[in-house]
Amino acid sequence: MIRHITRLGLILIVIVIVMIIAINRLTDAPPKKTMNLSTHSFNIQPKEKIPSKYKEVDLYLETEKTDTYMIQTISPKTNSQTVNNAIETWLEAQKQSFLSSITEDSDKQASLKIDVDIETESKHYDRFVFQIYQEKIVGGETRQEIVFNVDLEADKLLSLNDFLAVNDQTLQTILKRALDLVEIDEDITIHDNIRQNVLTSRDTWEWFMDQAGLTFIFDGNVITEQNHAPIHVNIPMQALYLHIDDNINQYIQLSETQIAEKEKAIQEEKERILAAKREKEKQEQQKAEAQKKQQKSSVKADDKYVALTFDDGPSGQVTPRVLEILKQYDAKATFFMLGSQVDYYPEVAKQVADAGHEIGNHTEAHRDLTKLGPDGIRQEIGSTSDKINNATGVRPYLVRPPYGAYNQNVINDAAHNGNSIILWSIDSLDWQSRNADAINREIQQTITPGSIVLMHDIHSTTADALPELMETLVQEGYQFVTVSQLREIQGLNGVGPIYGRTK
Ligand code: NI
Repeated sequence: MIRHITRLGLILIVIVIVMIIAINRLTDAPPKKTMNLSTHSFNIQPKEKIPSKYKEVDLYLETEKTDTYMIQTISPKTNSQTVNNAIETWLEAQKQSFLSSITEDSDKQASLKIDVDIETESKHYDRFVFQIYQEKIVGGETRQEIVFNVDLEADKLLSLNDFLAVNDQTLQTILKRALDLVEIDEDITIHDNIRQNVLTSRDTWEWFMDQAGLTFIFDGNVITEQNHAPIHVNIPMQALYLHIDDNINQYIQLSETQIAEKEKAIQEEKERILAAKREKEKQEQQKAEAQKKQQKSSVKADDKYVALTFDDGPSGQVTPRVLEILKQYDAKATFFMLGSQVDYYPEVAKQVADAGHEIGNHTEAHRDLTKLGPDGIRQEIGSTSDKINNATGVRPYLVRPPYGAYNQNVINDAAHNGNSIILWSIDSLDWQSRNADAINREIQQTITPGSIVLMHDIHSTTADALPELMETLVQEGYQFVTVSQLREIQGLNGVGPIYGRTK
């Protein structure tokens, strides 16, 4: 009996097992979609709505599985079509990029998993924070974080410019600061190439804003060049007060303290700018007064005066020597500079201007202007004026054409730009003699009140000649003026050319 029961029991157990298998087959299969792609089975589950804890946002789970990979994403559906489209497009791109990285001949299964968190800051500001987990066949598991800053009410994606009133340059400065902080926090050095890439590819910047300020999220894998979690860096609100957009209130609720601090920061900045402006005005006024005083006191029309001029500089060796000697005699002169030399010695040019001397334009590269057309002339003179202005803060209006060579085109150019052409009445021939005594002799023979003397502050022999020249001229009662002062005394205006007087 017992044996019969046991046998019956065994048969029953077998029948139950067979039935369980059959039922399992029936419920498990057929799946909605099954394909055989060469040797691989392909299984896409339909999108499945899953419980959502977020108001007005539905969540859908989607799974796709083969024997080489698995994709699982959760995608949100909102009442904003723009936001839905942007997220859908982005999710699709993520999948495609993942799929293209997969090789089919591996035992290991690759996986992509995308999850989402939604943080609500205000009625007009939600953050969809996606976590992307990837395990590729080659390389370990990586995690990335991508944020969509959105205004569901207004049906739009938010940009940094909705929060901060800044230009691209300021944004880059802020981002640079964030990268510096990453280096300190993570104790790493970010490679220059990577730094540059991050700075210039604005569409890869991940960020969000809240009461704590602006937070950047950097891809740890990129920044550290190894497997690394996303790196969050916060630029505190205090650092952003001067940049905060007036409309930020609809997105972020600043605290009472923050609002007060922001007002104070803006007020202080205004005062700072105003003070700087006042200081600059004051300095300019003082400068103008000093110049006026100098012009009035130094020379009267019936005095003996002469304008010393120095061409072809500035030079690193000779110009400072010339300045030193002029200073000893409290004499002012005029330096006609070459743009190409200002390139080399901008600080010497500045020294000349700061010492109260006048600076004129001797063209860019010392070419014969009569051999150039109007464009060439404009270029030779224009670039030099720019360079002198950059180096000294003063734009010259006196032009001395190289070799004293000018024609109607040169005059037209000067007239067009409000310049004045200045030549000379006394040639020291310093470029030829290269001898201090010869230079002194040449000048002494021909000088007369109202002369313009041509010398060159590129020959050391010219600097050698200066002490004796100055001493003699002072003893003869000469005073030293700039070319502008000479023009004024002689009542000469306009384009010129102006030569100065000879015996
Ligand atoms: Ni010259």
